[in-house]
Amino acid sequence: MSLRNSREHWGAVSQAFHWLIVLLILVLAIVGLTMGELPRTPKYFWVYTAHKSLGITVLALMLARLGWRLYAGAPAPVAGTPGWQAAIANLTHWLLYALVLAMPLSGWLYDSASGLRPFRYFGQFDMPKLAGPNEWLADLARDAHGLLFWVLVAAVAAHAGAAFYHHLFQRDDTLVRMLPRRSTRPRPGPES
Ligand code: HEM
Repeated sequence: MSLRNSREHWGAVSQAFHWLIVLLILVLAIVGLTMGELPRTPKYFWVYTAHKSLGITVLALMLARLGWRLYAGAPAPVAGTPGWQAAIANLTHWLLYALVLAMPLSGWLYDSASGLRPFRYFGQFDMPKLAGPNEWLADLARDAHGLLFWVLVAAVAAHAGAAFYHHLFQRDDTLVRMLPRRSTRPRPGPES
């Protein structure tokens, strides 16, 4: 499999970014939604710092992914896809990019404006602050962080739902071409 994207396939770099970011967002969502319930032991702060550090990792990966996407391009829509479907898919992809960037940025802004001590990225170095202490901004960023997450959930549901629909009902390569496999489905012949 090629590292670069071709007209038909996502290459290994785009696939690695895609599935790694999916996995990290899943972990961040589970930790983010449950960490507020933890008892206030030292572990509590450790979990918050892990959530913040992992979130910053997603931000860095997303910026690298975006750079790669602009450099390597994207495969053409699967043959036979109506123009309106390709346009909606394209719009959804850019919405997902924007949301996955906005999630860590809003979390980082919330952390910054809360006036807490700078958090140490995986215990290695202090993260810079995006803003000084500001209660109004901290509330706004926290609300945005929580709200954007549910917009992200809706966009991911539409995106993954469309991929499974194509795979199961249209029986085309939409999903398969984001998976590390050598061969793709044979195209239906004129008799089928
Ligand atoms: C893609 C990246 C991220 C995802 C998917 C994510 C996801 C979440 C989710 C689902 C929640 C629970 C929201 C709620 O209960 O309303 C949460 C809470 C939180 N996140 Fe993130 N997060 C990300 C990045 C970050 C970053 C980078 C930081 C800080 C540097 C951060 C700091 C926080 C904090 C402090 C909370 C608790 C908010 C509260 O007290 O209500 N997050 N996150």
